[in-house]
Amino acid sequence: MNIKSLKFQNFRNYQSAQISFSEGVNSLVGKNAQGKTNLIEAIYFACIGKSFRTNKEKELIRWGDDFSQITLCASNDIRQKEIKVSLFRGSKKSVKMDGLVIKRIGDVLGEVPIVFFSPDELRLVKESPEERRKFMNIDISQTNKKYFYLLSRYEKILDNRNKLLKSTPNKDIVLQTIDIWNKALAAAGVKIARERAEFVQRIAPFADMANKYISNGETLRVEYNGVNVENEEQYISKLEKSFEKDFKLGYTTFGVHRDDIDIYLNDVEVKNFGSQGQQRTAALALKLAELEIIKQATGEYPVLILDDVFSELDSGRRVRLLKFTSRCQTFITTTDEDFCEGKIIKINDGKLENKR
Ligand SMILES: Nc1ncnc2c1ncn2[C@@H]1O[C@H](COP(=O)(O)OP(=O)(O)OP(=O)(O)O)[C@@H](O)[C@H]1O
Ligand SMILES: [Mg+2]
Repeated sequence: MNIKSLKFQNFRNYQSAQISFSEGVNSLVGKNAQGKTNLIEAIYFACIGKSFRTNKEKELIRWGDDFSQITLCASNDIRQKEIKVSLFRGSKKSVKMDGLVIKRIGDVLGEVPIVFFSPDELRLVKESPEERRKFMNIDISQTNKKYFYLLSRYEKILDNRNKLLKSTPNKDIVLQTIDIWNKALAAAGVKIARERAEFVQRIAPFADMANKYISNGETLRVEYNGVNVENEEQYISKLEKSFEKDFKLGYTTFGVHRDDIDIYLNDVEVKNFGSQGQQRTAALALKLAELEIIKQATGEYPVLILDDVFSELDSGRRVRLLKFTSRCQTFITTTDEDFCEGKIIKINDGKLENKR
């Protein structure tokens, strides 16, 4: 799918704007604080169902207004999609797809697959395992809705098990019912682990390829560092083994909610030893690998969104990145007019000017 157009009203610093996009590169150019990331956020919000900057959706509504709306149109050779999100200060948001009300946000996810990269994505390489789990979750969910629902089920069961562990100091009472939660957790956990292991295995060669290309030769290795069980029985037995510890701590210490991905650059851990530029390139490479994974799953490339990516790369890496992205519709924000390609959209104080 390519994003054809976007219309928004009272979104962040935009009062009202409408723009159509190119199927190739779209360069969003402007000085700091003009609304480049806001425009990207509107696209992301319509495609993913939430913001990458905040969980407080009311913040997206333009200051002083009560309501905000985004309408995104996308199409490929065979179908068209219109996603319309309306936000209200006083009530819940409403999401419509092709005019029909969508109840579960998971139903929007994957309709217009996107891959998003911003400087914050460095977290993917540098910070806690939670960031890498988030990466796996969003990515797998975009091409596998079952996974998305499986994950919410797992989280609910985990929550119940943790509540039980905390519910009483009497171990025997806890032991009476914990089996139910162990079983349920194992059933969901094993499936999640399988999906993740497969995902990391699939993404690894593409991440290496993208990293080699942009860095001009460095090797990137990514490995799933997960629960390491073969089946539900083994999963349950590990939960049972960790019971004493869990009971003492009041939460579940074993399971896919502790998963991680290990990332090595030229055989050393990038988290601890990579330079800033190497870490950024590695994070970018992981994201670019998603392009191929989504292409394999859906038959077409997703939309690539790169927020402020140039400022972090040397000129060689910039040029090679642009070459690499020519395979799909791309949105790039930049403050640097000299580094614009394709359709250039100038952004000035929440207003759009179509230059080419
Ligand atoms: N709800 C809102 N209502 C009105 N303005 C807002 C709202 N939320 C954010 N803004 C403003 O939008 C402005 C532009 O933000 P944005 O992040 O899009 O800038 P940018 O063009 O990406 O800048 P940079 O190059 O620094 O990344 C900010 O200065 C912010 O004050
Ligand atoms: Mg920005």
